[in-house]
Amino acid sequence: MSVAPSPACAAEAPAPIPGAGAPGAAQPVISVAGLRKVFDGRTVLEDVSLDVMAGETMVVMGGSGSGKSTFLRCLIGSHMPDGGAIRLFGRDIARLDEAGLNEVRKRFGILFQSGALFNSMTVAENVALPLQEHTDLAPDIIEIQVKIKLELVGLREHADKYPAQLSGGMKKRAGLARALALDPQLLFYDEPSAGLDPVTSAEIDRLIVDLSRKLGVTSVVVTHEMDSAFTIADRMAMLDKGRMLRVESRDWFDALRRTPEAEAAELIEAERLIRQFLRGDAEGPITSRRASSSFEDDLFGSAPDDPDARRPSVQATRSV
Ligand SMILES: Nc1ncnc2c1ncn2[C@@H]1O[C@H](COP(=O)(O)OP(=O)(O)O)[C@@H](O)[C@H]1O
Ligand SMILES: [Mg+2]
Repeated sequence: MSVAPSPACAAEAPAPIPGAGAPGAAQPVISVAGLRKVFDGRTVLEDVSLDVMAGETMVVMGGSGSGKSTFLRCLIGSHMPDGGAIRLFGRDIARLDEAGLNEVRKRFGILFQSGALFNSMTVAENVALPLQEHTDLAPDIIEIQVKIKLELVGLREHADKYPAQLSGGMKKRAGLARALALDPQLLFYDEPSAGLDPVTSAEIDRLIVDLSRKLGVTSVVVTHEMDSAFTIADRMAMLDKGRMLRVESRDWFDALRRTPEAEAAELIEAERLIRQFLRGDAEGPITSRRASSSFEDDLFGSAPDDPDARRPSVQATRSV
């Protein structure tokens, strides 16, 4: 979807993708074009396109149910797309067999919402697991690797604890150390601060920024928490009802968020909607749209071919 530059942001040219387009330029680490995903006849992602360049942190935002987790699962090859193409490291993942997919999987790490640790194993054993499963490294080398990863996430002193003995933030750190075990070039995070108190959540944000700087990894972070999003993002992408509304630099979104009320009326609808989401305002296009949807839609969801289903739906989350 192409949207004209808004008055508030007219001074800023659309953010160029570093290195893209020029002859011999770096290829994107992730390239998604026209992605479509359907569950039980219901279109959950429609014509979603996104390029992520080496070393950048891309935050994918959107209200609950907008398709963020589904998008992430398509990227990691756990959902197969119903249309469009996904290339990771230049390889079309739909054309890979299981062995090829496993090769690609070794190059990325995932931090799931829950941390997904094995409760019967210590933190160190959890982090060692991918190394034991996917490498031929000797046990003493694995032990060193585990220490390095735990040091990176600030958990070295807790190596021998079991997940049940850890706080929510420490579980996330442990999950992150495990995601880093195989030295991935690419990290995926699904709602990394979900369920954490604001201070712990800010610490995890800082860790994400730190890791991206220290390790130079490319990151894709899915979140609906705007504090987090603005802290960690280089660029941001806004998903709404399964459609990609906008992909821009963090500064572009920040300018939109700060657009004064008096100027907001001049913005096009999609931008007013994103502005409401970013600010967590109680009133705006999101709320009007909800108010105008029928009781049947609320009960049963909109039918896929219902024009209403194509209208954006995001939820305000917090105040600026
Ligand atoms: N495995 C699935 N089967 C059927 N519907 C699903 C499945 N996963 C997600 N959905 C639906 O897809 C939509 C988007 O879900 P999701 O990607 O989890 O959104 P988000 O992560 O943005 O909250 C929701 O309506 C959800 O109910
Ligand atoms: Mg989700």
